Amino acid sequence: MTMGSVHVLDHPLLQHKLAILRDEKTGVKEFREIVGEVAGLMCYEATRNLPMEEVQVKTPIAMATCRMLAGKKLAIVPILRAGLGMVDAMIDLVPSAKVGHIGLYRDPETHLPIKYYCKMPPDISERSVFVVDPMLATGGSASDAITILKNEYGCKSITLMNILAAPEGVAKIQADHPDVDIFVASVDEKLNDHAYIVPGLGDAGDRIFGTK
Ligand code: PRP
Ligand code: URA
Repeated sequence: MTMGSVHVLDHPLLQHKLAILRDEKTGVKEFREIVGEVAGLMCYEATRNLPMEEVQVKTPIAMATCRMLAGKKLAIVPILRAGLGMVDAMIDLVPSAKVGHIGLYRDPETHLPIKYYCKMPPDISERSVFVVDPMLATGGSASDAITILKNEYGCKSITLMNILAAPEGVAKIQADHPDVDIFVASVDEKLNDHAYIVPGLGDAGDRIFGTK
């Protein structure tokens, strides 16, 4: 079976913004804004291979042969909470996208994901789905979210977008979901004993919503 690709996006604008996100001195307002900006830049790359079709457009001067998005429509699925911080910037770029939500939190002792909410657009199985969450640590949350989308909703085309990943998380997605491509701004060094990404940026949900 072909392994999903890992795309590490090393564009200077992304890496500059990632450095600001990592900085413990960056406050909630700036952190939230930059998570959105990073999501927009990542969305631009992650949607690069969407299918296109030729259309004829009448300009004020002449007919022009143009290309527009074709075929499957998009769905964005944030993993709550932190994934919410990436949604608005993506909708700005793809306004016709529908949004589904999956609520998962990590048990503080076991670090295993626990599902508490799920609501999808009815036609999500026909859409190209972009699962978004700033952090891919053990990979448990993203892997479970993708399993739910495949098994309970029949999704066939799924892409994962994370700002930061640990090698362990990337390996888990590749093992559990070899059909899924992953887009990240960095694959960091490792996980610590609490399954936080090192050096990482801390707790993404707390930093977006100011809950610590
Ligand atoms: C964080 C993060 C991911 C998950 C990643 O969420 O936003 O969803 O941890 O860890 P994993 O790869 O080991 O599963 P958290 O559980 O802290 O919930 P929150 O977004 O509500 O803060
Ligand atoms: N969740 C986070 O928010 N940060 C990490 O480093 C790991 C999981």
